[in-house]
Amino acid sequence: MGISLGLVGLGSFGSSFADLFKRHPAVDRIALCDREPERVRKFADDPFFQDKFDEKDAYSSLDEICEADLDALVIITQPWLHAPQCVQALESGKHVYSAVPITNIPDGDEILDWCDKLVETCKRTGLSYMLGETTYYHADTMFCRRKAAEGEFGDFVYAEGEYFHDVDSSCNLREVKARRLASKAGQEWIELEKGYLERGIKSGPMHYPTHSTSGPVCVMNAHAVKVTCYGHRNTTNDEYFDPAEFSDETALFLMSNGATVRICEYREIGLPGSETFRVFGTKGSYREHAWCTNKSRTPLTAEEMRDPLPPEVEEAFREGKTESAAYGGHGGSHAYLVHEFCDAVANERQPAINIWEAARYMIMGVMAHKSALRDGETLDVPDWGDAPE
Ligand SMILES: NC(=O)c1ccc[n+]([C@@H]2O[C@H](COP(=O)([O-])OP(=O)(O)OC[C@H]3O[C@@H](n4cnc5c(N)ncnc54)[C@H](O)[C@@H]3O)[C@@H](O)[C@H]2O)c1
Repeated sequence: MGISLGLVGLGSFGSSFADLFKRHPAVDRIALCDREPERVRKFADDPFFQDKFDEKDAYSSLDEICEADLDALVIITQPWLHAPQCVQALESGKHVYSAVPITNIPDGDEILDWCDKLVETCKRTGLSYMLGETTYYHADTMFCRRKAAEGEFGDFVYAEGEYFHDVDSSCNLREVKARRLASKAGQEWIELEKGYLERGIKSGPMHYPTHSTSGPVCVMNAHAVKVTCYGHRNTTNDEYFDPAEFSDETALFLMSNGATVRICEYREIGLPGSETFRVFGTKGSYREHAWCTNKSRTPLTAEEMRDPLPPEVEEAFREGKTESAAYGGHGGSHAYLVHEFCDAVANERQPAINIWEAARYMIMGVMAHKSALRDGETLDVPDWGDAPE
């Protein structure tokens, strides 16, 4: 028998995953949930979903769907909601997949508490949490993990990760914000955010750090131990940046393997959008789609770098609609994220981006922002250890 999944959050990003989760061969039953009823109807009324969807599995709240007898929930709601919703899902006996990041709220201490709570809940319940970090399944990240496993980097010396996403770039962050606020959950956030501002707690781009931190961390299989970070403050009185102390933040980390990592999270930057990492070792290095040694530079295509999907999964996804079909979506990552979660639930194993791994990506950003708020003071970075075997 296959697994049963509930898709919670069928907004812009969640909608682009529904097709793939429904197509995965391990999935027998799909439930749909959103507080905005028309977002559920879009899929509930689609003939394509009918063989795995039953009308009784249409839900209008997380509370309701947590009562259902499902194996797992896929939570793709607004970023400030993820952590409490994932804890609720785990407490209701379900494995959980979360869109990135673990949570995005202005108070770094609160984020640390949520990481702690998620780790504790996974340990106590034995259930799995998976973070849907797209960078983890970019072709170059898969390639670099293979090179690392083969020892081809030698000793890791240095890595860089950067997420350049200017507020007015082609994926316009003002429009994204307006869309996320234009729902019941969005309207509630407007009031909650005011509370943080009244207490003088301001966020920064390092509270959405996983696209830049995950590459170096997962390739080197190391975690941060110290950080120093500085921020750039917006100087044009742009109201988009009002809830944030900084519009750009740049951090330098000492890692557990002795390597140094530089991370940039920029939201006000004269560059096209880019999400990249580079890793440098004593024997080999990876940068800009090429494997390098001290004598050679070998350019590589995405096809040469990515791992294969199991043939039956690839075939099921290839029949899909263009946007979400195999190798579509954020550097081809969507198909791998969906497969990894479904396979982990079906085989009762830890997913690759489990809570212990995910916490490492998130905490780098939290501690970097704290350092920037203290004018670059060097801070220790906590760690929750490796996932249990
Ligand atoms: N590359 C990436 O990894 C990437 C890219 C884009 C978005 N994202 C993440 O995806 C998430 C969703 O973004 P979006 O643009 O789709 O937002 P959105 O506002 O379009 O969709 C969120 C949906 O969640 C629903 N929701 C909220 N609370 C709910 C509840 N309690 N029960 C049921 N439904 C609920 C809302 O009604 C809304 O429809 C964000 O957290 C974002 O960080 C990640």
